[in-house]
Amino acid sequence: MAENDRLKVELCMGSSCFARGNSGTLSDLEEYINENGLEDRIELEGHLCLGKCNSGPHITIGGKEFSGISDSSCVIDLVKKALEEIDAESDLH
Ligand code: FES
Repeated sequence: MAENDRLKVELCMGSSCFARGNSGTLSDLEEYINENGLEDRIELEGHLCLGKCNSGPHITIGGKEFSGISDSSCVIDLVKKALEEIDAESDLH
């Protein structure tokens, strides 16, 4: 699998973002990745507080920043969409 086919998902694991939704999002994303055999496609990373807790929880999907999404099903939908975009892009090449 080409490196470009991988999607990087970064979650803020600072205490505010963690408490405001990223804790549940992390476990739901891990479950989604495992259940769908996406370990090779999704690179999950955590990072420290970005210093903008007020607008959290912060998540970056494929380089795009999202804030204030505490519903993990919305995050998973965004991840699915980003994977589809990568697939559509690689079909063009
Ligand atoms: S805890 Fe995420 S921005 Fe501060």
